[in-house]
Amino acid sequence: MKIMTKSVLLTGGNLATFETNKPNYGAIKADILVVGDRIVRIFQESQSCQKSLVNQENQANQESLASELPESTEKIDISGRWVLPGFVDAHTHLVFAGSRAAEYERRLLGESYTEIAQSGGGILSTVAATRAASEERLYDLASARLQSWIKEGVTSIEIKSGYGLSFDDEVKMLKVAKRLEEHHPIRVHTSFLAAHAVPKEFLHNSQEYIELIVHSWLPQVAAMGVADSVDVFCESIGFDLAQTEQVLKQAQSLGLGIRAHVEQLSYLGGARLAASYSALSVDHIEYLSQSDCEYLAQSDTVATLLPIAFYHLNETKLPPIAALREAKVPMAVASDFNPGSAPCASLLLALNMSVRLFKLTPEEALRGGTQYAAKALGLSELGQLAEGALADLCVWDIEHPSELAYSYGIHTPLIRCVKGRWYSQSKQSSIVCMQ
Ligand code: NIG
Ligand code: FE
Repeated sequence: MKIMTKSVLLTGGNLATFETNKPNYGAIKADILVVGDRIVRIFQESQSCQKSLVNQENQANQESLASELPESTEKIDISGRWVLPGFVDAHTHLVFAGSRAAEYERRLLGESYTEIAQSGGGILSTVAATRAASEERLYDLASARLQSWIKEGVTSIEIKSGYGLSFDDEVKMLKVAKRLEEHHPIRVHTSFLAAHAVPKEFLHNSQEYIELIVHSWLPQVAAMGVADSVDVFCESIGFDLAQTEQVLKQAQSLGLGIRAHVEQLSYLGGARLAASYSALSVDHIEYLSQSDCEYLAQSDTVATLLPIAFYHLNETKLPPIAALREAKVPMAVASDFNPGSAPCASLLLALNMSVRLFKLTPEEALRGGTQYAAKALGLSELGQLAEGALADLCVWDIEHPSELAYSYGIHTPLIRCVKGRWYSQSKQSSIVCMQ
């Protein structure tokens, strides 16, 4: 079978490149040439490929640009529409079974998230439902949910385990996440989160559970190749600082990426600890201190903000956005989709809330859902429009990128390119689901 590498030239676009240190969304007017799964050339307006081809005055330039177009390049005039890198959701708990609506009602009557967790509910109630579900059932549930992300232009998603809390159930969750990538137009980054809560088998013996994760499960998971990174819930209802360090140390020695849920409900110092282990990201961080912001700025760790969890838990302690901004710590924004603290399947809603609740600018929010979210996953070839980068991108029928962080519930890209495949909303387009 002959495999054709598809070559597409989008002409007349406005590109929000999110190039580092470029103001105003890194916006340029340009044509963009994609060959296979890579951005091969970006022709800025002054050297626009289409214009050069009809400009008789600049014969030499014309020929060199034209010669860069592979034969049978498909040209699509996008007439002033906006091209953005595909969105990246850098923190989700997409795979689980069961519902926590009953606990939501308890919380509305006054019980706190922590009290419910301490009474054996919370994460552990989702663990019971997830353990009882077959791999097939978990796959079907997650696959149906994933459509929401695909529809809103997300081209990469991080998915954690953490509702199995036995070796087999954790691996079952990670396998489901990996299978989702095989069958959907989205990249999946998996995180092993066995240190999410103490399972009932180890109640009152969390240290024994941590030793099991560190000495037995982590090496096996690394050898199986089912996890790209390791996560841990460093919190009073999760694991303490010393236990968190054991997990991070082992993850680092096994060459796995590191991320951590830290300073969500209280301050334990987990962000600083994780950054000292070169964590890719520290997530939640409502209770992060001012001096931690300066510490993070000296590291390569991304601060991942999760405004939907803040909203859904009725949290009042805001993350220290001004200090993070001042220290120039890269801020990602993610959905944290999960049945307990963030039951909203939308990265765009998280971006919107990061502006309304956390006072990010729309540009900071959008960089947080593209450039810095990709950095939080260690995906340096994604999250920006640049020559040589991977061409996961979306074309939007909007007048300005800020619209994507302003209005909610109406945005879906006209055209998407993911993993070298093209998808279009338009029935007229010749690129509907072509390879
Ligand atoms: O990111 N904080 C820990 N984990 C999740 C919530 C999990 C749950 O309540 O099921 C979070 O908020
Ligand atoms: Fe989370």
